[in-house]
Amino acid sequence: MIRSTRRWSAFAGTMWRASPWRCAAVLLTLAIDVVGQPAFAVLLAGFTDAALRGDPAGAGVHAVLAASAWAAVSQSRGVRNQLRNDVRDRVGHLVTEDVMRLTATEPRVDHLEDPRTLDQVDRVSAKGYTIADTVWAALEVAAISLTVALTLVVMSTVSPALLLVLPVILITLWLNKVGQDGVRRAVETADEPLRVGANLLRLTHDPRVAGELRVTGAGGAVLDEHERQWATASRVLDRAEARAGVLLAAGWLVYVLAIGAGLVWAATQIDSGRVGAGDLVMILAIARQQQLSVQMAVNGFSRMSEGVVTAAAYDEVRATVAPTARQAAGEHDGIGGRLHRGIALRDLSFTYPGTSRPVLANLDLELPAGTMVALVGAHGSGKTSVIKLLTGMHAPTSGRIEVDGRPLDTMAPEAWRARVAAGFQDFVRLQALARESVGVGDLTAVDDLPRVEGAVRDAGAEDVVAALPEGLRTQLGTTFGGVDLSGGQWQKVALARGHMRQDPLLVVLDEPTAALDPLSESEVYTRQLSYARAMARRSGTVTVVVSHRFSTVRMADLIIVLDRGAVVEQGDHDHLMAAGGTYARLYTLQRDSYVGPASDATGRAVMNDEH
Ligand SMILES: Nc1ncnc2c1ncn2[C@@H]1O[C@H](COP(=O)(O)OP(=O)(O)OP(=O)(O)O)[C@@H](O)[C@H]1O
Ligand SMILES: [Mg+2]
Repeated sequence: MIRSTRRWSAFAGTMWRASPWRCAAVLLTLAIDVVGQPAFAVLLAGFTDAALRGDPAGAGVHAVLAASAWAAVSQSRGVRNQLRNDVRDRVGHLVTEDVMRLTATEPRVDHLEDPRTLDQVDRVSAKGYTIADTVWAALEVAAISLTVALTLVVMSTVSPALLLVLPVILITLWLNKVGQDGVRRAVETADEPLRVGANLLRLTHDPRVAGELRVTGAGGAVLDEHERQWATASRVLDRAEARAGVLLAAGWLVYVLAIGAGLVWAATQIDSGRVGAGDLVMILAIARQQQLSVQMAVNGFSRMSEGVVTAAAYDEVRATVAPTARQAAGEHDGIGGRLHRGIALRDLSFTYPGTSRPVLANLDLELPAGTMVALVGAHGSGKTSVIKLLTGMHAPTSGRIEVDGRPLDTMAPEAWRARVAAGFQDFVRLQALARESVGVGDLTAVDDLPRVEGAVRDAGAEDVVAALPEGLRTQLGTTFGGVDLSGGQWQKVALARGHMRQDPLLVVLDEPTAALDPLSESEVYTRQLSYARAMARRSGTVTVVVSHRFSTVRMADLIIVLDRGAVVEQGDHDHLMAAGGTYARLYTLQRDSYVGPASDATGRAVMNDEH
């Protein structure tokens, strides 16, 4: 049932950590169960015999003891249920937190783009508590086995023939197991449609997509699809549960017939004196207890089914995420104070996890220290992917990135990240106080107000802050009752966050002005350029800008043109214009769309006029 003892003991350890005294109490109640049940049957037999003998004192003592045994067993079951549920909730919390910590702190993000890992993370965070059920059920089944063994020993004192009940119990349990195995497989199969359905449902009340859903009228269709996915999952689960039900009913039928036969046999033996009345009562009591025990074992196994699937998912998440974290931990973090040579991409190719098509192929690039590099290319040509690799979000599938000649994957990711400032294309709208939303760009300085103000200034976001009712102390975003910002204002806050890093060796700006109006865009780029120059002088910093705005791109020391994941041209503006290739064509096209065909082949005068 549980594949490895190591995993089992790890889970048992987690449960013990969740609440040691509750776990100890549960074990005690199980011990009471194991001893109490056979004791009750024996005492009941003693009571019957004493009563039939005409021994009221003996009967009285046996009656009191039997009642006490029964009371102890039933009380301990009630208490056990309560304690078990408490531990289960705590284990759910611990397991969810563990998985979330693992996935959120892992330096790379490959696992967040792998649908299988995401499925498993969802399952563990929603059903982590079922792992506790698995361990409880295993313990319970062990205790029940002991109880059944003891009751069988007691029964065998009447006649060894009664031991034949054991194979019957095993048949009942086996039939139940076959059914539960089917349920477990169904739970695994239903996972995918349930997850898709849940995501669709979430979509219907996500404020970010509410507008589009209404304009397109797709809300109803999304709900229909959710319904369809849910129905698919239900069908699979219902079928497996119905099958398990039939198998279990068959198991019970066999058991009831066997016990009935045993009782009839015992009754026929009373006249011969080989079986006493007390024995008959005892067999009846044991039959009832065994039926309860088997029922508990059956329940235990069915609780295990879901727990086993969750436990396997938990294991797999740990196995896939943790090794990457260890591997990414790197050998040394001795990143120098400044860049001397720069950053190089060597025969680098990249395929996103879970996909088969390479999005970058055999890139060989030198990004010299102290330069500003512009990446241009059509949508989907791989610009953001290059940024993700440079910032260490993903590891190249082959080839490598070198920083001053040293492979990036031998450096501790945290150390490298501490020297990277980033403005991402899909920037985060971090709903917190404005000062925190900016300050988290460098966690060590989140409370350093002058630093936060400096970052706001460097990013040209003073106008956004000035418009906030309480300035940097304003709560941003509506989730916590704060002020919502426009897309452009959010982007400026994100840019300011990028400016919190002091002394970066790499600055990446992926479409940093996509949400801004032309005036703000121009102003932001002017500031970014002077910031990039200042950083270059100070630390040899490389700034990589992704932009469709050619008046900015042309300022770069090096322009790299990507097409479907390959470098098709590189050089500075003059060089690329003279070459008359893709860049020259795109540049001329953009310039002409603003001012009409120009006579100046380089467009320099025209574009400079824009500033
Ligand atoms: N997480 C992902 N998983 C799988 N494929 C992806 C992922 N992100 C991007 N891609 C694919 O990689 C290719 C390059 O995408 P990328 O985001 O790097 O393009 P881009 O040049 O930044 O485009 P844009 O100008 O639209 O931002 C695209 O074909 C895209 O479909
Ligand atoms: Mg992009």
